[in-house]
Amino acid sequence: MDIREVGVVGLGTMGAGIAQVFAQAGLQVTAVEADQDALKRGMSVLDASLDRAVSRGKLTEDERAEIAARVRPGAVSGLAAADLVIEVVPEQLAIKREVIAELDRVLRPNSIIATNTSSLSVTAIAAGSAHPGRIVGMHFFNPAPVMRLVEVVSTVLTDQQADRVVTALARRLGKTPVQVTDRAGFIANALLLPYLNHAVRLLETGHATKQDIDLAVTAGAGLPLGPLALLDLIGLDTSLAILEVLDREFGGTRFTPAPLLRRLTDAGRLGRKSGMGFYDHPEQAAPAASSADQSADLPAPSTVTLIDPGNGGTSNGEAAAHSERAAELASLIAAAGISVTRNPVHRTDLAIVAVGPQGGVLGPATAADRAADAVGVHLAAPSLAELVPSPLTSARALGLARALVARLGLRSVRAADRPGLLVAALLYPHLRDAIAMIGDGYATSSDVDTAMTLGCGYPRGPVRMLADIGVARVEAVLGAMYAGYGDPAFAPPPLLAQYAAGGLSPLAAG
Ligand code: 3HC
Repeated sequence: MDIREVGVVGLGTMGAGIAQVFAQAGLQVTAVEADQDALKRGMSVLDASLDRAVSRGKLTEDERAEIAARVRPGAVSGLAAADLVIEVVPEQLAIKREVIAELDRVLRPNSIIATNTSSLSVTAIAAGSAHPGRIVGMHFFNPAPVMRLVEVVSTVLTDQQADRVVTALARRLGKTPVQVTDRAGFIANALLLPYLNHAVRLLETGHATKQDIDLAVTAGAGLPLGPLALLDLIGLDTSLAILEVLDREFGGTRFTPAPLLRRLTDAGRLGRKSGMGFYDHPEQAAPAASSADQSADLPAPSTVTLIDPGNGGTSNGEAAAHSERAAELASLIAAAGISVTRNPVHRTDLAIVAVGPQGGVLGPATAADRAADAVGVHLAAPSLAELVPSPLTSARALGLARALVARLGLRSVRAADRPGLLVAALLYPHLRDAIAMIGDGYATSSDVDTAMTLGCGYPRGPVRMLADIGVARVEAVLGAMYAGYGDPAFAPPPLLAQYAAGGLSPLAAG
């Protein structure tokens, strides 16, 4: 079936972006909104996006004019000739069903209706239609003109032909379709939202500052946006709505919305769309300004003591990992012209404990009689150190540790001394969720990685990240998080345990 004319019903930010994507692919678009004001706002979002493309040299003025001319404002009653209509109206089942009932009255029986729902069941939307077989989920990602993923969602009611047409259309739009069945959150949101929710929990429980949470993910894992900045982009209300659906479908602490997310939503701090969320907008959400980076008003110490955390009760592997970490840190410090002593009795201004992602500063610091001036340091990524004070660490020692890592040319975040510290506490449960989804048989590892790279701009998908970090390491940290928090949501899933036991790469395991 050749799709030439399309309708976009609902011209909010996503709808306007989708209309742009269709028009850029040469399709005639009828854009429908509830009233003239909303239509005007939607068309101005589209115009601004096209202007931006022209100013960045992505489109010529002529191309811009041609694309804009392909988008005509209209009404549902004017969609009789449309081959496909996508609804992007507010996420309420009653509203969506009303729109679909109207479309059912106007469209030819063989026209397709797509829904961009992110949180409702496509099946429930389809079940209200006179022709449920033609209803397919077509889930775009924000910003729609940029993100290359489209999740194509078929239900038990969907005709295969409709699914095929929408999949082919997504390719024609320059997107990569990933075909899924109708389950809450599909692939990307079911993985993204619990991870974002966890970031809000870490903020509200005082685990880290918002800037450090975002920097931990951008500098520590290479993702394009930190979780709190991403929540502001998606919208806190939208995120809350998706979490509530996930919570109803799957249950468990990963999906129960963090109280702070609910409070901010109640307060109307919805993110970019309301001018304020975790950050103020349009002021840039700038994780670059880490609280830990702003320190260096103290000079870096000239000598530091490297405390041996001791190997009592740990395995040979852990002891070797500890020695490796300590040696790496010692050589970085020495290369910066700072002398390192391993003798705790030698009174230096700063003592550091080369901790791993499981933390553990207080014990070794106290044993070395350096509780007040010891800080844990973990090299979480090539350019990022996690600074881990114990409850007894003085503000001065923490300041010196900041100055030290700044001298090493590293950025730093402050992490509470809890299993996972900050980077792994955010990232590893996210990887865990991805493996659990694959283990459930909902998606393949390749679909999961495609979804997260093309839908959310990850440089590597979660399965690739897991393989690169090492299954055993991730399993060990998750085990420590499970033991430390008692939350089964952190327990390594069976498939991860199988990879670890068999020494298998999750990539090879398909
Ligand atoms: N409209 C059109 N184009 C846009 C745009 C917009 N709103 N925002 C950015 N762009 C374009 C820019 O023009 C630029 O294009 P160019 O490289 O061709 O010149 C490109 O995107 C990069 O933009 P910037 O240089 O301004 O900014 P960044 O490099 O910081 O990238 C980003 C911005 C693409 C948004 C990047 O931060 C990113 O990939 N973030 C992740 C976004 C994400 O995770 N989205 C998914 C959210 S979940 C979702 O939508 C599902 C829903 O159901 C909740």
